[in-house]
Amino acid sequence: MNKKIHIKTWGCQMNEYDSLIITRTLQKNKYTITKIAEEADILILNTCSIREKAQEKLFHQLGRWKKIKEKKPKLIIAVGGCVAAQEGKKIKLRAKYIDIIFGPRTLNLLPNMIQQISQKNNFVINIDSPKIIKKFNINLKNINKGIKTSISIMEGCNKYCSFCIVPHTRGTEISRSHDSIISEILELSHNGTKEITLLGQNVNAYRGKNEYGEKCNFANLIRYISLIKEIKRIRFITSHPVEFNEEIINLYKEIPKLASFLHLPVQSGSDKILKLMKRRHTIKEYKNIIKKILKFRPNMQFSSDFIIGFPGETESDFNKTLNLVKEIKFDFSFSFIYSPRPETLASNFVNNTTLKEKKNRLNILQKQILNQGRIWTKNMLNTKQKVLVEGYTKQKNNEFFGTTENNRTIYFNSDYNIIGKLVTVKIKNIYKNKILGKLYNKK
Ligand code: SAH
Ligand code: F3S
Repeated sequence: MNKKIHIKTWGCQMNEYDSLIITRTLQKNKYTITKIAEEADILILNTCSIREKAQEKLFHQLGRWKKIKEKKPKLIIAVGGCVAAQEGKKIKLRAKYIDIIFGPRTLNLLPNMIQQISQKNNFVINIDSPKIIKKFNINLKNINKGIKTSISIMEGCNKYCSFCIVPHTRGTEISRSHDSIISEILELSHNGTKEITLLGQNVNAYRGKNEYGEKCNFANLIRYISLIKEIKRIRFITSHPVEFNEEIINLYKEIPKLASFLHLPVQSGSDKILKLMKRRHTIKEYKNIIKKILKFRPNMQFSSDFIIGFPGETESDFNKTLNLVKEIKFDFSFSFIYSPRPETLASNFVNNTTLKEKKNRLNILQKQILNQGRIWTKNMLNTKQKVLVEGYTKQKNNEFFGTTENNRTIYFNSDYNIIGKLVTVKIKNIYKNKILGKLYNKK
Protein backbone atom coordinates (compact mmCIF):
# COMPACT_ATOMS: atom_id res chain seq x y z
CA MET A 1 0.00 0.00 0.00
CA ASN A 2 1.18 3.52 -0.77
CA LYS A 3 2.50 5.39 2.21
CA LYS A 4 0.89 8.72 2.96
CA ILE A 5 2.81 11.91 3.64
CA HIS A 6 1.63 15.08 5.29
CA ILE A 7 3.79 18.21 4.96
CA LYS A 8 3.53 21.43 6.93
CA THR A 9 5.45 24.46 5.72
CA TRP A 10 6.39 27.68 7.49
CA GLY A 11 8.39 30.67 6.36
CA CYS A 12 9.51 32.25 3.14
CA GLN A 13 8.76 31.51 -0.49
CA MET A 14 11.96 29.52 -0.67
CA ASN A 15 10.56 27.16 1.94
CA GLU A 16 7.31 26.85 0.00
CA TYR A 17 9.38 25.98 -3.03
CA ASP A 18 11.44 23.47 -1.04
CA SER A 19 8.25 21.78 0.13
CA LEU A 20 7.14 21.52 -3.47
CA ILE A 21 10.43 19.81 -4.30
CA ILE A 22 9.92 17.43 -1.34
CA THR A 23 6.40 16.67 -2.56
CA ARG A 24 7.51 16.02 -6.12
CA THR A 25 10.46 13.88 -5.02
CA LEU A 26 8.30 11.78 -2.73
CA GLN A 27 5.52 11.41 -5.29
CA LYS A 28 8.13 10.13 -7.72
CA ASN A 29 9.02 7.56 -5.06
CA LYS A 30 5.38 6.42 -4.94
CA TYR A 31 4.30 8.22 -1.80
CA THR A 32 0.96 9.99 -1.81
CA ILE A 33 0.17 13.30 -0.16
CA THR A 34 -2.58 13.84 2.41
CA LYS A 35 -3.87 17.06 3.92
CA ILE A 36 -4.92 15.28 7.10
CA ALA A 37 -2.10 14.70 9.59
CA GLU A 38 -3.94 11.84 11.37
CA GLU A 39 -4.11 9.87 8.10
CA ALA A 40 -0.39 10.08 7.36
CA ASP A 41 2.36 7.49 7.80
CA ILE A 42 5.01 10.19 7.61
CA LEU A 43 4.74 13.72 8.98
CA ILE A 44 7.15 16.35 7.66
CA LEU A 45 7.66 19.80 9.14
CA ASN A 46 9.53 22.36 7.04
CA THR A 47 10.55 25.02 9.55
CA CYS A 48 11.62 28.67 9.60
CA SER A 49 14.04 30.34 12.00
CA ILE A 50 14.14 33.91 10.76
CA ARG A 51 12.68 35.18 14.05
CA GLU A 52 12.54 33.57 17.46
CA LYS A 53 8.74 33.25 17.38
CA ALA A 54 8.88 31.23 14.19
CA GLN A 55 11.27 28.86 15.92
CA GLU A 56 9.18 28.46 19.10
CA LYS A 57 6.30 27.20 16.99
CA LEU A 58 8.27 24.05 16.23
CA PHE A 59 7.90 22.42 19.64
CA HIS A 60 4.22 23.31 19.89
CA GLN A 61 3.61 21.61 16.58
CA LEU A 62 5.74 18.59 17.49
CA GLY A 63 3.78 18.28 20.73
CA ARG A 64 0.58 17.92 18.70
CA TRP A 65 2.15 15.33 16.42
CA LYS A 66 3.50 13.40 19.42
CA LYS A 67 -0.10 12.66 20.41
CA ILE A 68 -0.75 11.13 16.98
CA LYS A 69 2.39 9.03 17.31
CA GLU A 70 1.28 7.71 20.70
CA LYS A 71 -1.69 6.10 18.96
CA LYS A 72 0.31 5.11 15.88
CA PRO A 73 3.84 4.06 16.96
CA LYS A 74 5.04 3.37 13.40
CA LEU A 75 4.46 6.98 12.39
CA ILE A 76 7.64 8.68 11.14
CA ILE A 77 8.19 12.33 12.06
CA ALA A 78 10.74 14.36 10.06
CA VAL A 79 11.88 17.91 10.81
CA GLY A 80 13.56 19.99 8.09
CA GLY A 81 14.20 23.59 7.12
CA CYS A 82 16.17 26.33 8.81
CA VAL A 83 15.49 25.41 12.48
CA ALA A 84 16.71 21.90 11.68
CA ALA A 85 19.89 23.32 10.12
CA GLN A 86 20.42 25.64 13.06
CA GLU A 87 19.60 23.36 16.00
CA GLY A 88 20.43 19.93 14.57
CA LYS A 89 20.52 17.18 17.20
CA LYS A 90 19.26 19.52 19.93
CA ILE A 91 15.75 19.12 18.51
CA LYS A 92 15.95 15.37 19.13
CA LEU A 93 16.98 15.98 22.74
CA ARG A 94 13.81 17.99 23.37
CA ALA A 95 11.53 15.84 21.22
CA LYS A 96 12.85 12.28 21.53
CA TYR A 97 10.06 10.82 19.40
CA ILE A 98 11.22 12.43 16.14
CA ASP A 99 12.89 10.17 13.56
CA ILE A 100 14.51 12.34 10.91
CA ILE A 101 16.26 15.72 10.82
CA PHE A 102 17.15 17.11 7.40
CA GLY A 103 18.35 20.53 6.18
CA PRO A 104 17.40 22.86 3.32
CA ARG A 105 20.16 21.33 1.22
CA THR A 106 19.60 17.66 2.01
CA LEU A 107 15.89 17.46 1.33
CA ASN A 108 16.51 15.45 -1.82
CA LEU A 109 17.83 12.65 0.43
CA LEU A 110 14.52 12.36 2.24
CA PRO A 111 13.26 9.21 0.43
CA ASN A 112 16.49 7.46 1.47
CA MET A 113 16.22 8.65 5.02
CA ILE A 114 12.63 7.45 5.25
CA GLN A 115 13.67 4.05 3.93
CA GLN A 116 16.43 3.78 6.52
CA ILE A 117 13.95 4.50 9.28
CA SER A 118 11.42 1.99 7.96
CA GLN A 119 14.09 -0.73 7.75
CA LYS A 120 16.23 -0.13 10.81
CA ASN A 121 14.03 2.02 12.97
CA ASN A 122 16.90 4.33 13.85
CA PHE A 123 17.21 8.07 14.13
CA VAL A 124 18.68 9.70 10.97
CA ILE A 125 20.15 13.18 10.72
CA ASN A 126 21.74 14.96 7.74
CA ILE A 127 21.93 18.75 7.74
CA ASP A 128 25.05 19.05 5.59
CA SER A 129 25.50 21.90 3.21
CA PRO A 130 26.89 20.34 0.03
CA LYS A 131 28.01 22.84 -2.61
CA ILE A 132 26.19 21.11 -5.43
CA ILE A 133 22.50 21.74 -5.98
CA LYS A 134 21.24 18.20 -6.24
CA LYS A 135 17.68 18.82 -5.38
CA PHE A 136 16.70 20.32 -8.71
CA ASN A 137 17.56 17.24 -10.72
CA ILE A 138 14.09 15.84 -10.75
CA ASN A 139 11.74 15.24 -13.60
CA LEU A 140 9.29 18.09 -13.82
CA LYS A 141 7.29 16.80 -16.75
CA ASN A 142 3.61 17.65 -16.61
CA ILE A 143 3.62 18.39 -12.92
CA ASN A 144 3.12 22.10 -12.57
CA LYS A 145 0.35 23.74 -14.48
CA GLY A 146 0.10 27.08 -12.67
CA ILE A 147 -0.32 30.26 -14.73
CA LYS A 148 2.00 31.90 -12.21
CA THR A 149 4.93 29.78 -11.06
CA SER A 150 7.96 30.43 -8.87
CA ILE A 151 11.26 28.74 -9.50
CA SER A 152 14.48 28.86 -7.55
CA ILE A 153 17.56 30.16 -9.38
CA MET A 154 20.02 30.37 -6.51
CA GLU A 155 20.09 29.76 -2.82
CA GLY A 156 22.09 30.70 0.23
CA CYS A 157 23.70 33.99 1.13
CA ASN A 158 27.24 35.28 1.69
CA LYS A 159 26.28 38.70 2.98
CA TYR A 160 26.10 38.08 6.71
CA CYS A 161 23.92 41.05 7.64
CA SER A 162 24.46 41.37 11.38
CA PHE A 163 20.86 40.38 12.28
CA CYS A 164 20.31 37.51 9.90
CA ILE A 165 20.48 33.77 10.41
CA VAL A 166 20.02 32.82 6.76
CA PRO A 167 23.75 32.49 5.85
CA HIS A 168 24.10 30.18 8.86
CA THR A 169 21.15 27.97 7.98
CA ARG A 170 21.01 28.01 4.19
CA GLY A 171 24.73 28.09 3.57
CA THR A 172 26.74 30.05 1.01
CA GLU A 173 25.39 31.29 -2.32
CA ILE A 174 25.06 28.68 -5.04
CA SER A 175 23.46 29.25 -8.40
CA ARG A 176 21.74 26.78 -10.68
CA SER A 177 23.06 26.44 -14.19
CA HIS A 178 21.52 28.53 -16.91
CA ASP A 179 20.46 25.43 -18.79
CA SER A 180 18.58 23.84 -15.96
CA ILE A 181 16.68 27.07 -15.26
CA ILE A 182 15.82 27.72 -18.90
CA SER A 183 14.75 24.13 -19.52
CA GLU A 184 12.57 24.17 -16.41
CA ILE A 185 10.91 27.41 -17.56
CA LEU A 186 10.42 26.01 -21.07
CA GLU A 187 8.81 22.91 -19.59
CA LEU A 188 6.57 25.06 -17.40
CA SER A 189 5.63 27.34 -20.27
CA HIS A 190 4.58 24.32 -22.35
CA ASN A 191 2.31 23.42 -19.47
CA GLY A 192 0.61 26.81 -19.31
CA THR A 193 2.83 28.99 -17.13
CA LYS A 194 2.76 32.63 -18.23
CA GLU A 195 4.36 34.41 -15.29
CA ILE A 196 7.64 33.38 -13.69
CA THR A 197 8.94 34.54 -10.31
CA LEU A 198 12.63 33.87 -9.86
CA LEU A 199 13.41 32.97 -6.29
CA GLY A 200 16.57 33.22 -4.22
CA GLN A 201 17.92 34.86 -1.08
CA ASN A 202 19.80 37.35 -3.30
CA VAL A 203 18.75 36.75 -6.88
CA ASN A 204 20.94 39.53 -8.22
CA ALA A 205 24.02 37.68 -6.91
CA TYR A 206 23.16 34.95 -9.44
CA ARG A 207 26.23 33.59 -11.24
CA GLY A 208 25.30 30.42 -13.08
CA LYS A 209 27.15 28.55 -15.81
CA ASN A 210 25.80 28.56 -19.35
CA GLU A 211 26.14 25.67 -21.82
CA TYR A 212 29.74 26.73 -22.65
CA GLY A 213 30.73 26.68 -19.01
CA GLU A 214 30.90 30.50 -18.89
CA LYS A 215 29.44 32.33 -15.90
CA CYS A 216 26.28 34.29 -16.62
CA ASN A 217 24.92 37.05 -14.44
CA PHE A 218 21.39 37.84 -13.36
CA ALA A 219 20.77 40.37 -16.17
CA ASN A 220 21.80 37.77 -18.75
CA LEU A 221 19.45 35.26 -17.25
CA ILE A 222 16.51 37.69 -17.38
CA ARG A 223 17.28 38.49 -21.01
CA TYR A 224 17.18 34.80 -21.92
CA ILE A 225 13.95 34.20 -20.06
CA SER A 226 12.35 37.18 -21.77
CA LEU A 227 12.97 35.48 -25.12
CA ILE A 228 10.62 32.63 -24.22
CA LYS A 229 7.50 33.60 -26.10
CA GLU A 230 4.91 32.03 -23.79
CA ILE A 231 6.32 33.81 -20.74
CA LYS A 232 4.49 37.12 -20.54
CA ARG A 233 5.66 38.48 -17.21
CA ILE A 234 8.81 38.14 -15.12
CA ARG A 235 9.27 38.91 -11.42
CA PHE A 236 11.99 38.14 -8.92
CA ILE A 237 12.38 38.04 -5.18
CA THR A 238 14.57 38.95 -3.27
CA SER A 239 17.24 41.24 -4.62
CA HIS A 240 19.79 43.14 -2.57
CA PRO A 241 20.47 46.87 -3.08
CA VAL A 242 24.25 46.35 -3.09
CA GLU A 243 24.25 44.27 -6.25
CA PHE A 244 21.47 46.19 -7.96
CA ASN A 245 23.86 47.51 -10.62
CA GLU A 246 23.35 49.64 -13.75
CA GLU A 247 22.94 46.57 -15.94
CA ILE A 248 20.01 45.35 -13.83
CA ILE A 249 18.51 48.85 -13.61
CA ASN A 250 18.68 49.10 -17.42
CA LEU A 251 16.59 45.94 -17.73
CA TYR A 252 13.60 48.10 -16.83
CA LYS A 253 14.18 49.98 -20.07
CA GLU A 254 15.11 46.94 -22.11
CA ILE A 255 12.64 44.25 -21.03
CA PRO A 256 8.93 45.16 -21.06
CA LYS A 257 8.10 41.72 -19.61
CA LEU A 258 9.74 42.70 -16.33
CA ALA A 259 6.89 43.70 -13.99
CA SER A 260 6.75 47.35 -12.88
CA PHE A 261 6.86 46.32 -9.26
CA LEU A 262 10.01 45.70 -7.25
CA HIS A 263 10.53 44.30 -3.77
CA LEU A 264 13.84 45.79 -2.65
CA PRO A 265 14.54 45.33 1.08
CA VAL A 266 16.00 48.39 2.79
CA GLN A 267 15.43 47.41 6.49
CA SER A 268 15.94 50.95 7.85
CA GLY A 269 15.99 54.56 6.67
CA SER A 270 18.94 55.50 8.86
CA ASP A 271 22.53 55.22 7.62
CA LYS A 272 23.71 54.66 11.17
CA ILE A 273 21.46 51.62 11.56
CA LEU A 274 22.27 50.31 8.07
CA LYS A 275 25.93 50.35 9.05
CA LEU A 276 25.23 48.45 12.26
CA MET A 277 23.18 46.00 10.24
CA LYS A 278 26.13 45.54 7.85
CA ARG A 279 23.93 46.19 4.85
CA ARG A 280 26.88 47.81 3.03
CA HIS A 281 24.98 50.64 1.36
CA THR A 282 23.63 54.06 2.28
CA ILE A 283 20.15 55.50 1.94
CA LYS A 284 21.42 57.79 -0.80
CA GLU A 285 22.58 54.77 -2.81
CA TYR A 286 19.25 53.04 -2.26
CA LYS A 287 17.33 56.13 -3.40
CA ASN A 288 19.55 56.38 -6.46
CA ILE A 289 18.53 52.90 -7.61
CA ILE A 290 14.87 53.85 -7.21
CA LYS A 291 15.37 57.17 -9.01
CA LYS A 292 17.05 55.53 -11.98
CA ILE A 293 14.35 52.88 -12.33
CA LEU A 294 11.64 55.56 -12.11
CA LYS A 295 13.25 57.33 -15.06
CA PHE A 296 12.48 54.32 -17.25
CA ARG A 297 9.22 53.40 -15.52
CA PRO A 298 7.48 56.42 -13.98
CA ASN A 299 4.66 54.20 -12.68
CA MET A 300 6.95 51.75 -10.95
CA GLN A 301 5.91 50.69 -7.44
CA PHE A 302 8.13 49.42 -4.66
CA SER A 303 7.81 47.28 -1.59
CA SER A 304 10.36 46.52 1.08
CA ASP A 305 11.37 44.67 4.25
CA PHE A 306 11.82 46.62 7.49
CA ILE A 307 13.26 45.69 10.85
CA ILE A 308 11.98 47.87 13.67
CA GLY A 309 13.74 48.27 17.02
CA PHE A 310 17.17 47.15 15.88
CA PRO A 311 19.73 47.72 18.71
CA GLY A 312 20.63 51.43 18.73
CA GLU A 313 17.53 52.59 16.81
CA THR A 314 16.49 55.92 18.33
CA GLU A 315 13.33 57.91 17.75
CA SER A 316 15.27 59.97 15.23
CA ASP A 317 16.47 56.85 13.34
CA PHE A 318 12.90 55.58 13.23
CA ASN A 319 11.71 58.93 11.86
CA LYS A 320 14.28 58.61 9.09
CA THR A 321 12.74 55.23 8.22
CA LEU A 322 9.28 56.78 8.23
CA ASN A 323 10.44 59.62 5.99
CA LEU A 324 11.92 57.15 3.53
CA VAL A 325 8.65 55.20 3.53
CA LYS A 326 6.77 58.38 2.66
CA GLU A 327 9.26 59.49 0.04
CA ILE A 328 9.39 56.19 -1.86
CA LYS A 329 5.63 55.66 -1.29
CA PHE A 330 6.20 51.97 -0.59
CA ASP A 331 3.10 50.05 -1.53
CA PHE A 332 3.64 47.12 0.79
CA SER A 333 6.07 45.76 3.36
CA PHE A 334 7.19 42.78 5.36
CA SER A 335 7.98 44.51 8.63
CA PHE A 336 8.83 42.97 11.98
CA ILE A 337 10.34 43.84 15.32
CA TYR A 338 13.99 42.85 15.51
CA SER A 339 14.54 39.40 16.99
CA PRO A 340 18.06 38.43 18.16
CA ARG A 341 19.22 35.23 16.46
CA PRO A 342 21.92 32.81 17.63
CA GLU A 343 25.36 33.06 15.99
CA THR A 344 24.62 36.50 14.53
CA LEU A 345 26.77 39.54 15.28
CA ALA A 346 23.87 41.74 16.39
CA SER A 347 22.78 39.25 19.04
CA ASN A 348 25.60 40.70 21.17
CA PHE A 349 24.43 44.31 20.73
CA VAL A 350 22.75 46.09 23.63
CA ASN A 351 19.14 47.01 22.96
CA ASN A 352 17.69 49.71 25.19
CA THR A 353 14.38 50.35 23.47
CA THR A 354 11.36 48.98 25.34
CA LEU A 355 9.09 46.45 23.66
CA LYS A 356 6.21 48.89 24.03
CA GLU A 357 8.11 51.53 22.07
CA LYS A 358 9.10 49.01 19.38
CA LYS A 359 5.49 47.92 18.99
CA ASN A 360 4.43 51.53 18.75
CA ARG A 361 6.97 52.24 16.00
CA LEU A 362 6.00 49.12 14.07
CA ASN A 363 2.37 50.10 14.28
CA ILE A 364 3.06 53.62 12.93
CA LEU A 365 5.14 52.24 10.07
CA GLN A 366 2.63 49.57 9.10
CA LYS A 367 -0.31 51.99 9.20
CA GLN A 368 1.57 54.44 6.98
CA ILE A 369 2.40 51.76 4.41
CA LEU A 370 -1.12 50.35 4.49
CA ASN A 371 -2.47 53.83 3.75
CA GLN A 372 -0.03 54.33 0.92
CA GLY A 373 -1.11 50.99 -0.54
CA ARG A 374 -4.73 52.17 -0.43
CA ILE A 375 -3.81 55.38 -2.22
CA TRP A 376 -2.01 53.43 -4.95
CA THR A 377 -5.17 51.35 -5.38
CA LYS A 378 -7.45 54.40 -5.43
CA ASN A 379 -5.31 56.00 -8.10
CA MET A 380 -5.91 53.03 -10.36
CA LEU A 381 -9.52 54.15 -10.95
CA ASN A 382 -10.15 54.71 -14.69
CA THR A 383 -6.62 53.66 -15.63
CA LYS A 384 -5.87 50.84 -18.05
CA GLN A 385 -4.01 47.94 -16.51
CA LYS A 386 -2.30 44.89 -17.96
CA VAL A 387 -3.97 41.91 -16.33
CA LEU A 388 -2.77 38.32 -16.52
CA VAL A 389 -5.96 36.26 -16.47
CA GLU A 390 -5.83 33.39 -14.00
CA GLY A 391 -9.33 31.98 -13.77
CA TYR A 392 -13.04 32.63 -13.53
CA THR A 393 -15.46 32.99 -10.65
CA LYS A 394 -17.20 29.65 -10.02
CA GLN A 395 -20.66 31.15 -9.45
CA LYS A 396 -20.61 33.50 -12.46
CA ASN A 397 -18.65 31.84 -15.17
CA ASN A 398 -18.33 34.87 -17.43
CA GLU A 399 -16.56 36.76 -14.63
CA PHE A 400 -12.83 36.31 -14.96
CA PHE A 401 -10.04 37.47 -12.68
CA GLY A 402 -6.36 38.13 -12.96
CA THR A 403 -3.52 40.16 -11.49
CA THR A 404 -2.02 43.48 -12.44
CA GLU A 405 1.70 44.22 -12.44
CA ASN A 406 1.22 45.76 -8.98
CA ASN A 407 -0.33 42.55 -7.64
CA ARG A 408 -3.98 43.65 -7.46
CA THR A 409 -6.65 41.12 -8.37
CA ILE A 410 -9.13 42.54 -10.89
CA TYR A 411 -12.54 41.04 -11.77
CA PHE A 412 -14.14 41.65 -15.16
CA ASN A 413 -16.50 40.02 -17.64
CA SER A 414 -15.61 38.27 -20.85
CA ASP A 415 -17.68 36.23 -23.29
CA TYR A 416 -14.67 34.14 -24.27
CA ASN A 417 -12.35 32.02 -22.19
CA ILE A 418 -9.27 34.20 -21.85
CA ILE A 419 -7.46 32.33 -19.08
CA GLY A 420 -3.71 32.63 -19.50
CA LYS A 421 -3.93 35.76 -21.66
CA LEU A 422 -2.39 39.10 -20.83
CA VAL A 423 -5.24 41.57 -21.46
CA THR A 424 -5.86 45.26 -20.93
CA VAL A 425 -8.58 46.10 -18.43
CA LYS A 426 -9.95 49.50 -17.51
CA ILE A 427 -10.53 49.88 -13.78
CA LYS A 428 -14.17 50.85 -13.13
CA ASN A 429 -15.04 50.33 -9.46
CA ILE A 430 -12.85 49.98 -6.42
CA TYR A 431 -14.51 48.37 -3.38
CA LYS A 432 -12.91 47.44 -0.11
CA ASN A 433 -12.39 43.81 -1.05
CA LYS A 434 -12.91 43.75 -4.79
CA ILE A 435 -11.76 45.72 -7.80
CA LEU A 436 -13.94 45.60 -10.91
CA GLY A 437 -12.80 46.37 -14.42
CA LYS A 438 -13.94 46.29 -18.02
CA LEU A 439 -12.10 44.33 -20.66
CA TYR A 440 -10.49 46.87 -22.95
CA ASN A 441 -8.72 44.65 -25.40
CA LYS A 442 -7.64 41.06 -25.47
CA LYS A 443 -3.97 41.68 -26.13
N1 SAH B 1 17.91 38.42 1.36
C1 SAH B 1 16.96 39.34 1.74
C2 SAH B 1 16.17 39.01 2.99
C3 SAH B 1 16.17 37.64 3.58
S1 SAH B 1 15.48 37.47 5.17
C4 SAH B 1 17.61 40.73 1.91
O1 SAH B 1 18.68 40.96 1.45
O2 SAH B 1 17.04 41.59 2.50
C5 SAH B 1 13.89 38.17 5.00
C6 SAH B 1 13.62 39.32 5.89
O3 SAH B 1 13.47 38.90 7.23
C7 SAH B 1 14.73 40.36 5.95
O4 SAH B 1 14.70 41.22 4.88
C8 SAH B 1 14.47 41.05 7.27
O5 SAH B 1 13.65 42.16 7.12
C9 SAH B 1 13.76 39.97 8.11
N2 SAH B 1 14.67 39.50 9.16
C10 SAH B 1 15.79 38.78 9.02
N3 SAH B 1 16.37 38.56 10.22
C11 SAH B 1 15.59 39.16 11.15
C12 SAH B 1 15.68 39.30 12.56
N4 SAH B 1 16.69 38.78 13.24
N5 SAH B 1 14.69 39.97 13.19
C13 SAH B 1 13.66 40.51 12.49
N6 SAH B 1 13.53 40.42 11.16
C14 SAH B 1 14.49 39.76 10.48
FE1 F3S C 1 19.98 37.76 5.36
FE2 F3S C 1 21.30 39.87 4.60
FE3 F3S C 1 21.58 37.63 3.32
S1 F3S C 1 19.17 39.81 5.21
S2 F3S C 1 19.65 36.56 3.56
S3 F3S C 1 22.20 38.02 5.35
S4 F3S C 1 21.48 39.67 2.46
